[in-house]
Amino acid sequence: MPEADTGTEPTVTLIAGARPNFMKVKPVLDALERRGVRCDLVHTGQHYDEKMSDVFFDELGIRAPDLHLGVGSGTHAAQTAAVMVGFEEYVERCRPAAVLVFGDVNSTVACALVAAKAGSFVGHVEAGLRSRDWAMPEEVNRVVTDRLSDLLLAPSADAVDNLVAEGYAPERVRLVGNVMIDTLFANLERARDRRVAQRLGIDGRYAVVTLHRPSNVDDREALQRLVSRLATLGERCPIVFPVHPRTRAKLEGADIPASIRVVDPLGYLDFLDLQAGADVVVTDSGGIQEETTALGVACVTARQTTERPITVTEGTNRVVGTDPDAVVGAALEAIEHPPLQRCPALWDGRAGTRIADAVVEMLERPRWPRPTEA
Ligand code: UD1
Repeated sequence: MPEADTGTEPTVTLIAGARPNFMKVKPVLDALERRGVRCDLVHTGQHYDEKMSDVFFDELGIRAPDLHLGVGSGTHAAQTAAVMVGFEEYVERCRPAAVLVFGDVNSTVACALVAAKAGSFVGHVEAGLRSRDWAMPEEVNRVVTDRLSDLLLAPSADAVDNLVAEGYAPERVRLVGNVMIDTLFANLERARDRRVAQRLGIDGRYAVVTLHRPSNVDDREALQRLVSRLATLGERCPIVFPVHPRTRAKLEGADIPASIRVVDPLGYLDFLDLQAGADVVVTDSGGIQEETTALGVACVTARQTTERPITVTEGTNRVVGTDPDAVVGAALEAIEHPPLQRCPALWDGRAGTRIADAVVEMLERPRWPRPTEA
């Protein structure tokens, strides 16, 4: 357990829990530490496999966490509760001045709730995104985390609009840009040396598929239908399918077309290289919709909704629903007519710096605007 915050040098605690958090934490941690801010990094252990966690710390050069809660997997309630109990012990002992939470995973909402009740200042990186699909656990996490946060750090103008429409006081909302893209730009050149497709024996065009949302993978028959239908895309080009542990369990015994190369989850650099060289990426991930937009690679999102509409209006993404015909049709169309590359404003590699500026400025104020004020 790290040392207590003495008050003379306030501690800012950053929360990393699951795979999509790690690449967002890195630029913010670096920018805060560059300003001399004392930071604690807490890993909740929501993701724990070497390929879901350690590889990101190694490849991105994220320092070892000051505290690892080791909560592991469980039902939503069990996992959220375990993070809360572990994090509360830390907060009571170390009394951080501020807690920064990232994204929309269970660790995000769990730590925001503990920190808000303990009186710490709470900042939410990636505030304001809304899918308006309340059946998604991440939507519940997003809405609740925003409500608990003092400072709402929005990645895009649509996120700011959502927050303003929900009545958040504008002085608590900051448009800072997309911090995930800071890490992408910082590592793209290095990643391109990985030559993942070549290592897989692919020479020429290929598609990438990732699926892990409960709505796509939890029903084995629906997953089989989608995977079988991908054979039509596979006639056009080979498909690389890095499989999340949740999906792996559901694919056991499935009939997988020969054109699909099922591989283990990839590290950050390998996956970035794979995306950058693809003709099309079919996914149900949130972050991959953003990464493909920044890379100018066509993305087909196999979901009914997106909380990241800017990747459609200003990027390379199409949201087509989960019907296998629609997904494969859109992927073939994207190969035929690739979208133009456009990158949204403030997805410029400097979001981490803007976030650190906003956090420091807020902490220096004699009185922070609190969630009760709007
Ligand atoms: C979580 C996030 C989701 C995010 C995804 C990225 C929530 C509600 N969901 O979903 O928003 O897009 O991470 O990966 O927080 N497992 C392992 N090893 C691991 C981690 C998980 O084997 O390191 C397996 C376990 O069987 C576990 C299952 O994957 O039960 C699901 O993990 P969990 O963290 O509950 O949710 P994700 O589906 O990963």
